[in-house]
Amino acid sequence: MTHFRAFALAALVACAISACAPRPDEVTAEHASAEAVEHPGEAVYQQWCASCHDSGQQSGAPSLAAIRQLNRATVKYALELGYMKIQAQDVPKEELAQLINWLPTSEGNNDAWINAARCPVKTREVRLNGAPRTSTTFGVTNTANRAQSAQETGLTRDQMKTLDVAWVVAFPQTPTMRSQPVIVGDTIFIAATDAGRLYALDTNTGCVKWHYISEMTLRSSLTFAEATDKSPAAIIMGDAAGFVHAVDARTGRKLWVSNARLNEYNRITGAPVVHDGRVITPVSAIEVNYAGSDDYQCCKGQGAVIAFDLATGEKLWTGTTMEPAQPTRLSRTGTQQWGPSGAIIWSTPVIDEKRNVAYAGTGENVSWPATDTSDAIIAYDLDTGAKKWVFQATKSDIWNYACGRRGANCDWPGEYHSPDHDFGATAMLIARKDGSELVVAGQKSGVVWALNPDDGQLVWSNKVGRGSANGGAHWGLAFDGERIFAPMNDPNRPPTPGENPNFGPGIHALDAMTGEIKWSYKPNQRDCGAEMPVAMAYEPAPEWRIQPVSAPVLPTPRAAATPPRPATPAAAAPTAANAPAAPPARAPAPCRLGMSPAPLLVDGAVVTGTTQGMLRIFDGKTGEVLFEYMTNRPFEKTVNGVEGHGGGLDSAPYIAGDGTLFVQSGYARFGEPPGNVLIAFRPKAK
Ligand code: HEC
Repeated sequence: MTHFRAFALAALVACAISACAPRPDEVTAEHASAEAVEHPGEAVYQQWCASCHDSGQQSGAPSLAAIRQLNRATVKYALELGYMKIQAQDVPKEELAQLINWLPTSEGNNDAWINAARCPVKTREVRLNGAPRTSTTFGVTNTANRAQSAQETGLTRDQMKTLDVAWVVAFPQTPTMRSQPVIVGDTIFIAATDAGRLYALDTNTGCVKWHYISEMTLRSSLTFAEATDKSPAAIIMGDAAGFVHAVDARTGRKLWVSNARLNEYNRITGAPVVHDGRVITPVSAIEVNYAGSDDYQCCKGQGAVIAFDLATGEKLWTGTTMEPAQPTRLSRTGTQQWGPSGAIIWSTPVIDEKRNVAYAGTGENVSWPATDTSDAIIAYDLDTGAKKWVFQATKSDIWNYACGRRGANCDWPGEYHSPDHDFGATAMLIARKDGSELVVAGQKSGVVWALNPDDGQLVWSNKVGRGSANGGAHWGLAFDGERIFAPMNDPNRPPTPGENPNFGPGIHALDAMTGEIKWSYKPNQRDCGAEMPVAMAYEPAPEWRIQPVSAPVLPTPRAAATPPRPATPAAAAPTAANAPAAPPARAPAPCRLGMSPAPLLVDGAVVTGTTQGMLRIFDGKTGEVLFEYMTNRPFEKTVNGVEGHGGGLDSAPYIAGDGTLFVQSGYARFGEPPGNVLIAFRPKAK
């Protein structure tokens, strides 16, 4: 919808309510005056949405300002099909339309900047022939070691000390940067997922070579597929509704879009990877949110790995994580329950060419009964999707949004626990000094597991973090040939007595032969402006270097029944009468030290970040801090003229190539600071 029509519609809706009739000339009034008249959508927001979205620190919901940046298609999707479907189900149709009309503040300018930012003809071409494949997927390569060399990137470890901002591009209608780019030659392919846009940008200046428009919100990180005799080189990614997109890497033209849904609950979160003419796609699901509502029939969504033909997008096989869900029992509120469900695959599969398998980590079960495939690493045969082995790290972990308050959808017979200890992080296939290989995976429980790739047997394990529903290990690890780097998104709280003093937000370098910690680093409050010296890496005391855990971790007997807590607004739609009181005077902003994003290695330097937005680069050998930069700040001068602001660093925000370290900043999830920028760092010229 054009800006003009959006305004006209807003005026019409406003007047329908106040029983006035707009004259055509009023419709051309300044936008500012439209804002002055209260739009009915705002009242709908206050009644149905504000309880969570005005208190993001507690609810984890993005702020009103952040959701108002989204484009209309994304808001509509969220309310009708996506995460907010249950929250919006009781909003009368007319009010919902007013809300969808009111929320987006900048509809229409999503693509306006592109023409001005278009590359000059001589750099507009996406050159693939002979260009280095600097990083082609989430894990940099299909074994997902997340390691780049000086030769591949044109950056050395020493140069990290002298990095400086070269240029910044900002994306409109984008509060969250959550998709790791790929780099081929002098082109960086990058997605502004919330805005449903994929771009090919020039690595030297940030100018635009092409852009691709998706009608659906995009979601996953990107993968580059080489041309074959049947198909051109392609960029592959997943969207928020569970479809895979293949886009011509040279032109941005759509090649195919294929459905990866087992049912309506599936989504794609991890990146599809490409191997041998096939697109191996991880499938997640959404119901963990819906289950928060007591009258929701929980749950049928399940994880899977699905292979598509790279040339045609045709589905070749499906590797499920469990049998389809059946009706099981009635909940205490009389609602039909379904199961098994869950064991969804958030992360990017890892390809083992030699053994012809893909390794995928699964999440918890979402409803009863539990399966032996949740919180597990599964090896899938690359020709058939059959399971070759399953390593289950945690047993009987059934969790969904009802569990925080013991809602009716978190009410199962028998022994279970609900720590929500997924494998959200992508695993790695590593080759050690002695030539032996391991599958290494970090879990949200804070445990790093090392498995034999032949049979999934445990080789070593080390619990290096406290763990939580948001990590422990959250998005990934990296491997430099000797050490495994494991950042922890542990909650930032004082240690409990007797607890391993290394627990907490931080990063650990583990010896790949034994799993022992070689060095650890814990950020301090200086990251949030407190006057204190920069924290230093240290060697933990010998007794704390390794704490093995045997698998599977079993449920602890359930504590004596606690009375159910009162329903939150997720279950009971707030009305004017029972709307929650305004939150008390603003609590001080929390200091976020959690190191959630997957690390990246560049010539042995470890690039890391915090959910507060601090970029920090270490020497992988010693833990010495080489570089720090707070990305959570305004960027007034962007090369494309769009207003820019950095925010939290999360998911997989960094990638290097063509002499540049690229960092994406902004993450409007879990109460983290939103942002919309891609920052290009280069060494200062001597
Ligand atoms: C019970 C709390 C709650 C209520 C009520 C609620 N939301 Fe949300 N909302 C959330 C949370 C939490 C998220 C983040 C979901 C995630 O990313 O996992 C979210 C996300 C969103 C998003 C972003 C979705 C995306 O895909 O990026 C939009 C848009 C949104 N909400 C709109 C609304 C609107 C409009 C209403 C009122 C009809 C509403 N929400 C009511 C908690 C709530």
